[in-house]
Amino acid sequence: MRKYRIPTGGFAAFNDHCAAQRSLEQGTPPFVIKADGLAAGKGVFVCETREQARDAVERMLKAGEFGEAGKRVVIEEYLEGPELSILAVFDGKDYRLFAASQDHKRAFDGDTGPNTGGMGAYSPIPWLDHALSEKIRIEIIEPTLNGIQAEKISGAGVIYFGLMITADGPKVLEYNCRFGDPETQVILPLFKGDLFEVLYEATGSNLESVDFENSSDSCACVVIASGGYPGPYKKGHRISGLDRAAAGSG
Ligand code: GLY
Repeated sequence: MRKYRIPTGGFAAFNDHCAAQRSLEQGTPPFVIKADGLAAGKGVFVCETREQARDAVERMLKAGEFGEAGKRVVIEEYLEGPELSILAVFDGKDYRLFAASQDHKRAFDGDTGPNTGGMGAYSPIPWLDHALSEKIRIEIIEPTLNGIQAEKISGAGVIYFGLMITADGPKVLEYNCRFGDPETQVILPLFKGDLFEVLYEATGSNLESVDFENSSDSCACVVIASGGYPGPYKKGHRISGLDRAAAGSG
């Protein structure tokens, strides 16, 4: 992101526990602590106090709770603003965008709990107007995809842009080379094309041959999680009532 001038929060990365803790002593809370590897969307801690940040760093770099993903830790500037997720299909040169969606990361009513993989999502986003969409495309999406090509990183598929709209404009919080959960639950019902064909043609650098259209309908998803999530929780509860949900209109 630095190399391609893609807007993101200030950050420093650490493999060494002492160096990371020293950096926390010098900084001012709140901090964002991230496992630098894949953690299924659960490797981010938003820490209001230095104590919480110390604990998160310790869990990753000392206790090894996040395995390989937590062997390198990113301490990042705390950004404020609404988040949104944009998922693109990229074929190595060309791209198409699914409808933008908004994920709700924190557990509990009023966003008072820890960050989770996502407690729900909806699409489209009423406040995402044309001007902001264009800014995101010009400042973030295209420089990212151009950067991938310039770095000669081969590959095709879905690229997930996790963004925050700050007072300084849109900034990247994270990328993922996968669909988002629960974003996918709201963007795929709105997608009007043939998903198999899109992904298949993306692998052959041939996205231009496919129809790609998102409907202007709305879609919402609510996650019901077992008590304790995103920490340890009881598994095996029976889920019932899906037939009644499916019988509802829309
Ligand atoms: N909803 C967050 C993610 O899929 O990473």
